[in-house]
Amino acid sequence: MAKMVFPYEIKNVTEEEDKLAKKYYKGYIRPFIRVGPHGYFWMAGYGDHAADIYNLDVRPDDIWVVAFSRSGTTWLQELLWLLENNLDYDGAAKTPLTKRYAFIEYPTMSSEVKKGPPTAGNSSGATVDDFRNFHTLQSPRFVKTHLPLSLLPPKLLDTAKVFYIARDPRDVAVSFHFMHKLFRYFDEDVQFTEFWELFKKDLLLHMPLFPHIEEAWTKRDHPNMTFLFYEEMQKDLCSVIDKVSKALGKEYTNEQKKKLAEHLNFENMKKSSTLKYGKEDKDTEIKFMRKGLSGNWVKYFNTDELKREAEEYMETHLSKTDLTFPDLA
Ligand code: A3P
Repeated sequence: MAKMVFPYEIKNVTEEEDKLAKKYYKGYIRPFIRVGPHGYFWMAGYGDHAADIYNLDVRPDDIWVVAFSRSGTTWLQELLWLLENNLDYDGAAKTPLTKRYAFIEYPTMSSEVKKGPPTAGNSSGATVDDFRNFHTLQSPRFVKTHLPLSLLPPKLLDTAKVFYIARDPRDVAVSFHFMHKLFRYFDEDVQFTEFWELFKKDLLLHMPLFPHIEEAWTKRDHPNMTFLFYEEMQKDLCSVIDKVSKALGKEYTNEQKKKLAEHLNFENMKKSSTLKYGKEDKDTEIKFMRKGLSGNWVKYFNTDELKREAEEYMETHLSKTDLTFPDLA
């Protein structure tokens, strides 16, 4: 089949932006890029392969998890995999999530200088973490991506089941700051206030956040789209289990659903080593599961200035959309 032309403009960020981003993102040599009308911020390596990813084959029995980082991707991955695989807890325990899911854009995120953030699959040489091997994977394929829908194969939603999870941007910001240090994108001493400056300027991986969510939100009524919120999983995991089961065409007893909710509980997932970055990265794994709370952002937006800015950020973006985040109360 003829390859589709990648339909979006890819351009370098401005010199000033690049300088600022590189002050924090260590080891990156080529300019960072912006992609498409929303100006999604990516590493140059993504630009090299944007068309390859856009042209990936999609199978009707694929299951795709699409999310902005730190929005509950991992939590949803475990839930989905178990529901689809008839609650095979033994299978889940044997194979880490990083091998059960293809993380398609992973190789495009590395810096030119190999200092290797201990990201999924890095230590084990897993081949699922590469869009180049995607067509060789056996069905049903479980796929994880942090790319927004517009950058994924255009026939994705009409072909396969897609699960999107969104989270309050303020909790994402806090968790994302933490992740940047954990995966050594940023030095340990980078403060949240500095991170927030980059966040506001959309100078962080996958940003801007709102368009990423809204792209999926506008498709929430598509029969193949299941749109979820992290907050919803926090508040009523059993109803999310029901929703996802229904989307997958699976039925489970109340007993089975209760057991699954227990398995997916933050402390249990933290203990169960679902992620398995490798023995040497046990600590990373534990830290990846950080707090698992909603609304914890208030502890980090802890000055009047930050609080005002967070409010402003939310108001500005929410005023332009019909998207609303679930009430925590
Ligand atoms: P925090 O850093 O706020 O704790 P992702 O998988 O998309 O990168 O998201 C990671 C976030 O989801 C982290 O948030 C992590 O703790 C949280 N998380 C992962 N598993 C969870 C679970 N079982 N229950 C609640 N939160 C979970």
